[in-house]
Amino acid sequence: SALRSGSSSSPSHFLRRCYCSESVPERKVTILGAAGGIGQPLALLMKINPLVSNLALYDIAGTPGVAADVSHVNTISQVAGFMGEDQLGKALEGSDVVIIPAGVPRKPGMTRDDLFNINAGIVKSLCIAIAKYCPNALVNVISNPVNSTVPIAAEVFKKAGTFDEKKLFGVTTLDVVRAKTFYAAKAKVPVSEVNVPVVGGHAGITILPLFSQTTPKSNNLSDEDIQALTKRTQDGGTEVVEAKAGKGSATLSMAYAGAIFADACLKGLNGVPEVVECSYVQSSITELPFFSSKVRLGKNGVEEVLGLGPLSDYEKEGLEKLKPDLKASIEKGIKFAAQS
Ligand code: NAI
Repeated sequence: SALRSGSSSSPSHFLRRCYCSESVPERKVTILGAAGGIGQPLALLMKINPLVSNLALYDIAGTPGVAADVSHVNTISQVAGFMGEDQLGKALEGSDVVIIPAGVPRKPGMTRDDLFNINAGIVKSLCIAIAKYCPNALVNVISNPVNSTVPIAAEVFKKAGTFDEKKLFGVTTLDVVRAKTFYAAKAKVPVSEVNVPVVGGHAGITILPLFSQTTPKSNNLSDEDIQALTKRTQDGGTEVVEAKAGKGSATLSMAYAGAIFADACLKGLNGVPEVVECSYVQSSITELPFFSSKVRLGKNGVEEVLGLGPLSDYEKEGLEKLKPDLKASIEKGIKFAAQS
């Protein structure tokens, strides 16, 4: 192809050709919180995704600049910036996938739950608007604490009469991204080939990587190695928060993870077969109403919530340990939605 031969053909020419010959449907993606630490690099990554035809960037401030900047990238999608609540409806209208990285991030010493008071209200108000302007969109919730903000979103949609459990996702892809990276380094296997399911939730011990199911398998890791890898995956976010020393949490790796997950949603919508990602969704694979596991994505969003598969004793123990924590976070979200 033009790209591989390194000719002067522009990437946009290449993308346009793919777009036409494969007749990919038009897709609108909206990012809420697009001017933030995650929102900006995520906007860039969605701009270079050939499955996106319209990219709407919304925030309470700063979006005209981000939109003008990103719009100069020579790829097919049309970019528009929206700022302030009176433009939220326009940002959402006709959207196929809405990604929500709006809200405050952690500072050193904070848990994700410490963000609850501010972010719960932000997610609630944004979901009220989603129910009104694009009730059929797939919603990707990044705002923490995901263990609670997803149940809040579900309650808001139920109240509005628009809830479809197939269309609401907590984005836990960063846990998978971290587990893959840490495992590959430790096991000395090519990182691009590594697959690790991560189940449970998205905070501390509720993050449960299933290293026993990792492919390719490495037989030279001890139980201690697996425990250390599990702990590092669970504390990956805190590692970044501490290194940034007050300047926020993971933004670049999160934008990468968010872009991977949104791309999987778009592929599913477009009918690509066997698209499987881990995500925190309404679930009946454990007694908890929300749980992260592998899900198969399709034209309606979640086509199938896949089971946990065989667990090691260490993972079984981790699963039992995380349940009370996750249950409390779910109940906290539901209670907030009911009260306010
Ligand atoms: P940030 O503070 O850099 O950006 C947040 C953006 O949200 C700001 O631009 C702000 O203006 C905007 N915002 C606030 N209220 C809003 C509203 N009502 N409507 C629209 N936009 C609004 O924060 P950052 O680093 O981008 O993190 C965002 C969220 O993502 C945090 O809650 C953080 O904890 C979470 N996060 C989640 C991860 C995950 O794996 N799910 C990983 C890393 C962060």
